[in-house]
Amino acid sequence: MRTDTPQPVRLADYRPPAYLIDEVFLDFALEPSATRVKARLSVRRNGEHAEPLILDGEGLTTLSVAIDGAPHAYDESPEHLTLAGLPATFTLETEVEIDPAANTALMGLYISGGRFCTQCEAEGFRRITWFLDRPDVLARYTVRMEADRSFQRLLANGNLIETGELPGGRHYAVWNDPFPKPAYLFALVAGELDELADQFVTMTGRTIDLRVYVDPGMAPRAAYAMDSLKRAMKWDEEAFGREYDLDLFMIVAVRDFNFGAMENKGLNIFNSALLLADAETATDVDYERIESVVAHEYFHNWTGDRITCRDWFQLCLKEGLTVFRDQSFSADMRGEAVQRIKDVKALRARQFPEDAGPLAHPVRPSSYIKIDNFYTATIYEKGSEVIRMLKTLLGAQAFRAGMDLYFERHDGEATTVEAFIQCFADASGRDLTDFFGWYEQAGTPTVTVGQRWDAEAGTLELSLSQTTAPTPGQSAKTALPLPFAFGLLDEDGTALRETEVAVLDGAELTIVVDGLDRRPILSPLRGFSAPVNLVSDIAPKDRYVLLAADADLFNRWEAGQGLARDLILARAAGRPDEVAEERYAEAVGRALADQAAEPAFKALILALPTEPDLAMAMSPADPAAIHEARDALRARLAVHLGDDLRRLHTGLADGGPFSPDAASAGRRALRNAVLTLLAVDGHAENVDLAIRHFEIAANMTDAIGGLDALIELGGASAETAIAAFHKRWKAEPLVLDKWFAAQARDASDEALGRILALTAHPDFDGRTPNRLRALVSTFANLNPARFHDPSGDGYRFVADQIIATDAVNPMTAARLVETLGGWRRYTPQLGALMKAQLERIVAVEGLSKNVFELASKALA
Ligand code: ARG
Ligand code: ZN
Repeated sequence: MRTDTPQPVRLADYRPPAYLIDEVFLDFALEPSATRVKARLSVRRNGEHAEPLILDGEGLTTLSVAIDGAPHAYDESPEHLTLAGLPATFTLETEVEIDPAANTALMGLYISGGRFCTQCEAEGFRRITWFLDRPDVLARYTVRMEADRSFQRLLANGNLIETGELPGGRHYAVWNDPFPKPAYLFALVAGELDELADQFVTMTGRTIDLRVYVDPGMAPRAAYAMDSLKRAMKWDEEAFGREYDLDLFMIVAVRDFNFGAMENKGLNIFNSALLLADAETATDVDYERIESVVAHEYFHNWTGDRITCRDWFQLCLKEGLTVFRDQSFSADMRGEAVQRIKDVKALRARQFPEDAGPLAHPVRPSSYIKIDNFYTATIYEKGSEVIRMLKTLLGAQAFRAGMDLYFERHDGEATTVEAFIQCFADASGRDLTDFFGWYEQAGTPTVTVGQRWDAEAGTLELSLSQTTAPTPGQSAKTALPLPFAFGLLDEDGTALRETEVAVLDGAELTIVVDGLDRRPILSPLRGFSAPVNLVSDIAPKDRYVLLAADADLFNRWEAGQGLARDLILARAAGRPDEVAEERYAEAVGRALADQAAEPAFKALILALPTEPDLAMAMSPADPAAIHEARDALRARLAVHLGDDLRRLHTGLADGGPFSPDAASAGRRALRNAVLTLLAVDGHAENVDLAIRHFEIAANMTDAIGGLDALIELGGASAETAIAAFHKRWKAEPLVLDKWFAAQARDASDEALGRILALTAHPDFDGRTPNRLRALVSTFANLNPARFHDPSGDGYRFVADQIIATDAVNPMTAARLVETLGGWRRYTPQLGALMKAQLERIVAVEGLSKNVFELASKALA
């Protein structure tokens, strides 16, 4: 148990900094266990006051402190260095020693694969030197670093201005970044790396040097990231008028990283899992993520770096907006409807449960204990949905005008969400006061739509209403303005009305559509025009029309998902409707036969709602019943469509050379979705198909598809495949992660013991976040049947891993806590077992603030 209760930081307490830092000169003498950091800061008092200068620091050994060249008295506590009696402007020089080799938290300066690298967002810079480690202190940085020559490349932000040799086999480099930036965007890398070089010519004709740095020998695997980068640079010019500003843009891949990637100015640092790809080692999903994360981090150059956040409560200002930008980019690269469906699936899988549980928080939170805990689906994905609604409400043109104004008005500043929204109000002349509620109110609204059809008058009356359930700390909710896009079809699927956007800007709204000569079928919330739970009275027979013929592809998919969900939940409740299940299987068969539809879209149609998704719709949730009922519907599809599916599988086989493009990936996705479905039915024909699929796989997408299917089918062929995969890939950490993840997904009754034993496998190392996530996050998030095993052993395992990881890497440990946070939504027996593990976690002596905050909130 912690003896102190960590105190929250509150938005309401924000004060501008008492001092500003204009220039920073850093000098690093890099040694793995004893790095010396000298800092020379040009400091300026901010306004008239006699307050001391209070600098942030963590784990620093202070060697010297001087003001204007003379030693100065200071007070040092574990987290602060306080200096009083200061002139209005002065130079502060400090020297500290740090130990990168012992840095297992992977924040600040640490070592990964024998190379120095940094991660400073949100508050890691204070682990490097004494500083005002807050985003509203913007300074120009010059960085000198020296190291043994074996650390071949010496990289930092900005432009390289000098390099040279030093005695004793050492060398140095000096970098200067002309753009003022907050400390969280600082980066440094030193070590042996291979380089992939390219160039990009901007819209004004400037030539930018592009560099991707990777482990020796891995440069060919950086080609797709480089290609994605160039497409992202071009797209940002076309879609937002944004040109790159430095002459050099660098990306470095590292194996040990707490999350996906980081937008440090001119020197992005990536988790190698989100950068390296080739046909043999990366799946299509990896390619897709690489493309979107490379774009995301590049887009941050304007939405994050040039314009940054005043304080960490404004995190969504850069993250929600940049996710919106990367989703728009991906939609343009890969097709709008398929991208939208995937984005909404991710939102429902991660953000909806968060918003419905004890860790719910607004897109702009008003208090936190550790900001690291707020890099959440709410801030990223719901933050993006809010921007998307803004665009829908204002129209594309006014939205772009608001963005242009934002870039013009706030370039070079650390600003707020209010200032951002004001740009759209000013550009459009609209009052966005109520819209701002989306940033301040937590919880997913439920929108109910009722219909009244008057055949005689030829009118359809739609009544919309919204409510939002209370969330922790917010019992009273207000209605938020939301765009409700809808269309009308007739029973033959012919469009009666094109998409229209109504605005539900209060608790209720009535819409009357007249002049209808036939009974219309409503296609509601087209394109998922608002992040809400929709409740409607649309009959199953009308949903079948939508599934077959809606012009809005998102709603075709949504109709199929709704039909499947109702069938599965009826079964889980002990009321299976076999006739309706047959009817559903036939409709899916017709959708698969549709010549006009893209394979990527069909793959999504074929996948039933996920178990966590279904759990959100069942109260209390019973994961075992859901798993069984879902498999029963899968089995019905597999049997009913068996011959068609096997023919489709054969027809989609691709003998040509691998290409990661969206159309080829879509064909592989459909072929693997077919296999996934067939794997529920252990018919000899299906087992043979899976074995062949795995054995002749010529790319990682098919290899993993085959491995997953064989693991589900079980028996000797599963054992053989698991062993063969390990043998082939044991020297490739990124592929071995997939091997752990595939086993962590094994939902069979007897899988649990084997999954838990994988932590004792010689290749398991919980200190590498990628490996830990491959096993533990995959298990907790993607294997609900075994995570919620009635024995409670799944929960105990995850809690064990949280406790063990917390001692070395609190940030990564904390990310696992949310998996236990939904305990109130499950059956009382399961809920009690989950809760007991959370209680065990908070009772641990010396628990980090990170884990403490989430576990205690989850229990509250
Ligand atoms: N800004 C990074 C991104 O683009 C993520 C940084 C995550 N930091 C953290 N403390 N969790 O999304
Ligand atoms: Zn980001």
